[in-house]
Amino acid sequence: MDFSNKLNALAARVEGTLDALVPALPPPAPAGPARIHEAMRYSLRAGGKRLRPVLALAAAELAAGEAGVESALPVAAALECVHTYSLIHDDLPCMDDDDLRRGRPTCHRAFDEATALLAGDALLNQAYLILAEGYAERPVLGLRLVRELAAAASGARLVGGQMQDLLAEGASAAGRPPASAGELEFIHLNKTAAMLEASLVCGGLAGGLAAEPLEMLRRAGRHLGLAFQIVDDVLDATADTAVLGKTAGKDARAGKTTYVSLHGLDTARHLAAEETARATDALRSLPGDSAFLLHLADRMLKRGS
Ligand code: IPE
Ligand code: IPE
Ligand code: MG
Ligand code: MG
Ligand code: MG
Repeated sequence: MDFSNKLNALAARVEGTLDALVPALPPPAPAGPARIHEAMRYSLRAGGKRLRPVLALAAAELAAGEAGVESALPVAAALECVHTYSLIHDDLPCMDDDDLRRGRPTCHRAFDEATALLAGDALLNQAYLILAEGYAERPVLGLRLVRELAAAASGARLVGGQMQDLLAEGASAAGRPPASAGELEFIHLNKTAAMLEASLVCGGLAGGLAAEPLEMLRRAGRHLGLAFQIVDDVLDATADTAVLGKTAGKDARAGKTTYVSLHGLDTARHLAAEETARATDALRSLPGDSAFLLHLADRMLKRGS
C-alpha cells in the first residue's frame, strides 16, 4: 500500500473507533443532557488531521503488525480525545480567544463558553474511561498507557506548556521581555511535543515493544513534536485562514513569542527541518519497517495546514 492509502486507511480506523467509543447522539441513557454530548462530538467530529492517533497506530504496527494496530485502537482514540479537549480549551476567550477551529466555529462560538469548558472536561475524562474499558482484560498494559497519557497531559507537560505560553504572552503585553529561546523551547516541548511523544510511546506499548525501542520512539516523538509546533508557528505567520481552518496571523496579533517572532521565518523553517532530521534518525534506528513513519515525519514538516 502506498503512503497516502495507508494514511487514509489508518485515519479511517481512527474515525470508526472514535465513533464507537465516544457516546453517540442522541446519547444512550444515563448519559445526561444531550447538549454536552453534542458539543463533544461537534469538536471531535469536526475533522482534524488525526496525527496523534495515526502515530500511535503506526508505532504499534511497527512493533507487532496488524495485531499491534488492533491493540492500539482504544489508546489512539483516547489520545485524540485529550488532544481535542486541549484545542477546545486553547480556543477559549481566557486563553487564545479563537473563533475558528478545524474549519468551523470554535466550540464556545457554536455553543457557549460554559458548554465548551465542560465539553473539554468531558473529553479529557472520556479518554481515561476509554483506556480503563478498552484494556480491562490487560490491566498492566492499561495502567502503563494511563500513566503515559496522564503524564503527557499533566501540569508538568501539556498544561504546564500552556501555562508558560500564556505567561509569556502576558509578559510581552505588559512590556516585559518576550520568552527567551530556552523558555520557548520549554513551551513547545510541553504544550505540543509531550502529546506527540506519548502517541508514539503508547503505540509502542500497545504493540508490546521493549524498553529500549520505546525510548527511541520517545526521542523521535520529542523531536517530531518540536518540529510540529515550529511549523505551526510558521503556518500561523504565512498560511491562509481558509487553508489552515483556524485564524491565521493570530500569534503576532496576540503578541505570542513563537519561533517566528524570536528567530525569523527562515531560521524557524531551518530549525523545523533540523528537528525532523533528529526524529527520523531515531526512527531509523528502530528495528522493523519504519518507512511509513519516516514518510509521515516528512509530510508533517511539509504540511500546509
Ligand atoms: C493543533 O494541532 C495544535 C497544536 C499542537 C499545534 P493539529 O495541527 O494536529 O490540529 P488538528 O488535530 O489537525 O485540528
Ligand atoms: C496549542 O498551541 C497547543 C495545544 C492546544 C496544547 P497553539 O495555540 O499554537 O495551537 P493553535 O495554533 O491554536 O492550533
Ligand atoms: Mg495556544
Ligand atoms: Mg491557539
Ligand atoms: Mg498555533
